[in-house]
Amino acid sequence: MELLSVVGGSRLVGEVRVTGAKNSVLKLMAAALLAEGTTTLLDVPDILDVEIMAELLRRLGCEVTHDQVGGVVAITVPAILDHRADYDLVRRMRASICVLGPLLARCGAAEVALPGGDNIGSRGLDMHVDGLIKLGARAVNEHGYLIASTEKRLRGESVYLDFPSVGATETILMAAVTADGTTVIDNVAREPEIVDICRMLNEMGARIAGVGSSTLTIEGVEELHPVTHRTVPDRIVAGTWAVAAVITQGDITIHNAKVEHLQIALEKLVIAGAVVTEVEDGFRVVMDQRPKAVDIVTLPYPGFPTDLQPQFIALNAIADGAALVTENLFEARFRFVQELARLGADVRTDGHHALVRGRLALSGAPVEATDIRAGAGLVLAGLVADGTTTVYGVSHIDRGYSGFVPDLVRLGAQITRLEEVG
Ligand code: EPU
Repeated sequence: MELLSVVGGSRLVGEVRVTGAKNSVLKLMAAALLAEGTTTLLDVPDILDVEIMAELLRRLGCEVTHDQVGGVVAITVPAILDHRADYDLVRRMRASICVLGPLLARCGAAEVALPGGDNIGSRGLDMHVDGLIKLGARAVNEHGYLIASTEKRLRGESVYLDFPSVGATETILMAAVTADGTTVIDNVAREPEIVDICRMLNEMGARIAGVGSSTLTIEGVEELHPVTHRTVPDRIVAGTWAVAAVITQGDITIHNAKVEHLQIALEKLVIAGAVVTEVEDGFRVVMDQRPKAVDIVTLPYPGFPTDLQPQFIALNAIADGAALVTENLFEARFRFVQELARLGADVRTDGHHALVRGRLALSGAPVEATDIRAGAGLVLAGLVADGTTTVYGVSHIDRGYSGFVPDLVRLGAQITRLEEVG
């Protein structure tokens, strides 16, 4: 097992480049299944989740090559695909569920292991299933698998989502692009990653209107063709670097990042005392004072992203004042607070609220990352804690952050990756 050893106290200064978004590229890889031939994805991050998705696609019969240095993934999809996603891969990565829609559309059948709960909450699939049933599929839960099938082509319908779920929007969208007739999906997620997949599907020949709005209208087409597509930049990684600049009172220029994808988060950093300026392909975050505490409320896009909540709790832990953090998406995301408390943070939680009282200093200690973003939050806290913080559970961080440690070192952090002995 690997761990990270962080010695706090360095001010982070310099430039970083963000790669394509994990939460987009995994879905783009699944969308490639919709067209026979070779689809090429650019700016793919070198992270564990991409490897898991590549392995899943190989098991379905695709050839997948991944040039880690160049960030290129090429997926060659055969005429006939296998349609079963086994538990051993799905349990390693919940996002495997995103093959459900494309497999059903391409094969008329899909068997995907149920991912179950995970470290950030129970995370249901009811809206995915209801949407597919609306389009004419049968769907049952048998022996731990979600089994969906249809004898004829799926048929266009009106679907309304109770909540703008990212995953359900993607599943129904990918099933609908080759359905017979027009599908209207209301109350869809509007995340930049949804816009990215809609753009790629349209490049592949799909006819999706309303991209970026709450209603998608999809006119089904006979078939799609493979394309080459550049992945949208990772706004959560960019936001993590922005918090790193503020928490360490540093100065970081973040390239390949879009201010418009992080509007509320960056505004919060300005309220905390940072200066944020746009540069040609990104933005620069400069901080020269102890941050002021900032309240946050997580909501679907364009609200404050839940995937930046732990990083902002870390920031509030050393801020001047008290902050109320409200988590509306994943009930168990506050689990990481217990780890932060090991560094001396003063955080009290009650249901989906956390009250963070800023401390002048944190003190280094061993801590365990329980999910990707909790891992990032703990590393950020370690950067400002007195002495050494040892972060266990590094594999979580590797699932979402490519080149995180080398980038931190280049910016001046004292961080090393170590093998756990014994
Ligand atoms: N939900 C249901 N039923 C459904 C679908 C969702 O109850 O059928 C609930 C979930 O339980 C959750 C809420 O709706 O409480 C939001 O879930 P959503 O479907 O929007 O999220 P997701 O698709 O499971 C993606 C990202 C998450 C990110 C969320 C919200 C991927 C692979 N994952 O998850 O990213 O937090 O959207 O933006 O795209 C991460 O990267 O660390 C991460 C967890």
